[in-house]
Parts: sequence; structure tokens; C-alpha cells
Amino acid sequence: MEIAVVGSMNMDMIVHADRIPRKGETIAGGGIEYQPGGKGANQAVAMAKLGASVTMYGCTGNDAVGKELIDHMSSCGVNTEKIQTVEGVPTGQAVITVGEGDNTIVIIAGANDCVSIAYAEANRESILKADIIVLQNEIPEETVEYVIRMCHKCNKKIIWNPAPARTLDRELLDMITYMTPNEHEAGVIWGEKAESMDDLLMHYPEKLVVTRGEKGVSVNLKEEGIITIPAMKVDVKDTTGAGDTLNGAFCVGLSKNMSEKEALRFANAAAGLSVQKYGAQSGMPALADVERVLEEA
Ligand code: RIB
Ligand code: NA
Repeated sequence: MEIAVVGSMNMDMIVHADRIPRKGETIAGGGIEYQPGGKGANQAVAMAKLGASVTMYGCTGNDAVGKELIDHMSSCGVNTEKIQTVEGVPTGQAVITVGEGDNTIVIIAGANDCVSIAYAEANRESILKADIIVLQNEIPEETVEYVIRMCHKCNKKIIWNPAPARTLDRELLDMITYMTPNEHEAGVIWGEKAESMDDLLMHYPEKLVVTRGEKGVSVNLKEEGIITIPAMKVDVKDTTGAGDTLNGAFCVGLSKNMSEKEALRFANAAAGLSVQKYGAQSGMPALADVERVLEEA
């Protein structure tokens, strides 16, 4: 099966500190690193590292950083032919603070804002060659909506990772196969409408997948009802990109016709491996690593 990711690419500027500073506080950092990121690119790389055939759709600026991101993705096995280089705008960036395994992230969209309806339309035929289409919220909302409609008409599997949190009309939610917020995002998007996480999961059986950090992943399955598949117990170094690894691996599982439960177990294992290393993409595991962890479990 073919997978298409329509999403963002960023260069991450990562600052390591003993902990994340509080509002108004100044603390000392241990150093700065630059590493490829962006939720779209991260998810595409996670899939490629797990052996999937994946094409990235998105935009970078016509600058050295953009070229570096594209080269890196391509070296990870992602098809980068459809990425557009846009004149006059910088490549997307993110400023990330990592401390005690946690992080805060500020994104500067740059060229990610150029992923327009016109760009999606120009790539329509190619996008629709994929069986599974994956979206996040780091490109313009109107493009996300357009791609959902376009893919739904052709009966594609659509995975929407609503990060950062932003809501969609009910009509569009109905067109999506799976949506994969983390607990925080689910709260922001549906908080007012749901009394609890279980209440929310009741509303979206076999569709809403909530990632809950060290608690694992919750989903409402037809035969079993609401279940939480526990996360691996690991030493957490850096959770940056853990959600992206989980999403990427979940899609790979689905592309291999695993059941939802199997695909989520697979995804949990991949995410568990990724948090043991620094950086969004550098800790993402290969297929053999995930298989080994699942055998040992
Ligand atoms: O999910 C992690 C990613 O969020 C980072 O790589 C950063 O670029 C932001 O998009
Ligand atoms: Na990591």
C-alpha cells in the first residue's frame, strides 16, 4: 500500500535544559542542536524507517535549510519528488525546549503556510494514488479540509492527527477514518462537549484514537468497547516526536492490514523506542527493532 503525507516540514532548534522554564523565568541551557522536524515530515520519516512506501507533500523555502530537510527525508527513504520549493519565504522552523523528558514547542510556519489548495489540486492525481492519506494541523486549515473532501470522494483511508489542536466541522469529521489527538488536544477540541475521555470515545467508536503518553493509547472497539493499550515502560529522554512516531507506525500497521488493536500495539512499541533517544526523527526505530520489542513483550 502507498501512503501520502500532506503536511509540514520544520528545522527544529532544540535547547536542552534541566527543566522547562516557568513563565517569566530565565534558566541556563545545556546547548543548542538543529535537527529535522515538523509533524508532517516526522510522520513520513517514521513510516519510511518502518519500511513503508511514503510520499511527502509540502513546501519548503528556497534556502539551505529547506534543501537539508529534503535531503534528509530522502535519505530516510521518503519520496520527496512532490515537495515544492517556494521563493521569498523561509523554511518552517520550531523552537523546542527539552527538560526532564518533557518539552515545549513554538512553531514558525514559514513555507508550511504555502501548502495551499492550489498546491493540493496540482498534486491531486498523485495524492489519490495513495491508499492512506495522512494530515496534521501545521498547514492551512482550508487545505486540510480540501484534501479530506478530495480523498473522501475517492474512498481513501484518511488519518487526521489534529496537532496542534484545531477543530473541524462534523461533516468533515465524518469523512475521516481515524483521528489521533493526544489527551490535551482532545480536551481543547471536544472538551466542552464531553464529560470525560470515555464519554468522548463513546461518541467516536473505531475512529477516535487518543494518545495518553505513558498511560498508552485509548480507543473504542466494536467487540471490546473502550480499551487502553498500555505504553511500554521505558526510560524517557525526550518525548519530542513521540506522537509522530506513534501516528506513523499506526498508519504502517494499517497499511499492513493489521487490526486496529494490533496496529496500536505496534505503534506503542515504536513510540516507546523513540522516546529513549533525543530528537524527533533521530530516535525513530527501524521495523526490526519494533518487532523485537513486540516479541519480548
Ligand atoms: O511533533 C514534534 C514536532 O512539532 C517538531 O519536530 C516540531 O517541528 C513541531 O512541528
Ligand atoms: Na525522541
